[in-house]
Amino acid sequence: MTAPAIRVRDLRKDYGDVQALDGLDLTVERGEFFGLLGPNGAGKTTFINTLVGLVHKDGGTAEVFGFDVEDDYREARDRIGLAPQEFNVDRFFPIREVLHHKAGYHGIGKKAARERAEDALKTVGIWEKRDTRFDWLSGGMKRRFVLARALVSNPDLLILDEPTAGVDVQLRHDLWDIINRMNDAGTTILLTTHYIEEAERLCDRVAIMDSGQKVEVAAPDDLMARGTDTIELELADPPRSAPRLDIDGVSEVAVTDDGLSVTAAGGSQTAPELMRELERQGHTVTSLNIRRASLEEVFVDMTRDDRDYAEVSA
Ligand SMILES: Nc1ncnc2c1ncn2[C@@H]1O[C@H](COP(=O)(O)OP(=O)(O)OP(=O)(O)O)[C@@H](O)[C@H]1O
Ligand SMILES: [Mg+2]
Repeated sequence: MTAPAIRVRDLRKDYGDVQALDGLDLTVERGEFFGLLGPNGAGKTTFINTLVGLVHKDGGTAEVFGFDVEDDYREARDRIGLAPQEFNVDRFFPIREVLHHKAGYHGIGKKAARERAEDALKTVGIWEKRDTRFDWLSGGMKRRFVLARALVSNPDLLILDEPTAGVDVQLRHDLWDIINRMNDAGTTILLTTHYIEEAERLCDRVAIMDSGQKVEVAAPDDLMARGTDTIELELADPPRSAPRLDIDGVSEVAVTDDGLSVTAAGGSQTAPELMRELERQGHTVTSLNIRRASLEEVFVDMTRDDRDYAEVSA
């Protein structure tokens, strides 16, 4: 049996009264593009830091490709490339040398290290800056460099903690291309982001975390199917008040300037019956548009509900 890329069970980390990780269970399969979503302070970075040995867990188990992150630290750590949320780069050396050191740290010989460094800097598009020190790179180039550093050891698991925070549209698309190519070539990706649309586009599955726990894990499409859709209808003769629509799944009917806006679970299943019912009531539907729930809306609902619950039970 091959072990999954990441498996954690009942993972715990306390900082005084704060339970940064409060019994987290999570499995990421090999080759997956996996997203980790959650509001500020949910515990995402703490989770990542336990995997790479920067944080010592207080309880539970954590394995990377079957290697325990503490007992088999070296085996686990050498398989991971990390682009952390906060820059922690040796600022005074030319960036190419920083990559040589990093590769060396992972046991890669000098000649191979030089080749890897060149490849990595070319992949992220800052080869021409190879002799510059980190401090002198622009903000976007720093992001690119941190990704290059994560790639230099040729990791089986690439962990990206908010890689696109504050970067421009062009760089965001460049980074997406690079990590998509890595994933196509078999690298497992763990990505945290606050751009939920990014997770919707890129990830096979996402976990939603809140207060150190997993709230949900599913494919973005499956999560979106749980949200409510909005059906916008234009009517030939818009009504003044909302008609009574006794249809399964319809939760709200509102009058708009040129017709109705109907909120429903599963908009595409509801639409035909909605049309029939409106025509039966004497309306003529001239146009219909279904706006699907976004992952962002579902995410906000799930984490907000969780908050309300935490407040009530506190
Ligand atoms: N070194 C530390 N000392 C004390 N508290 C900490 C430390 N690191 C994290 N925490 C606390 O643990 C909780 C989880 O923080 P963490 O950085 O893991 O959140 P996050 O999900 O990565 O949030 P963000 O989206 O803001 O990056 C927070 O309440 C944070 O204040
Ligand atoms: Mg974080």
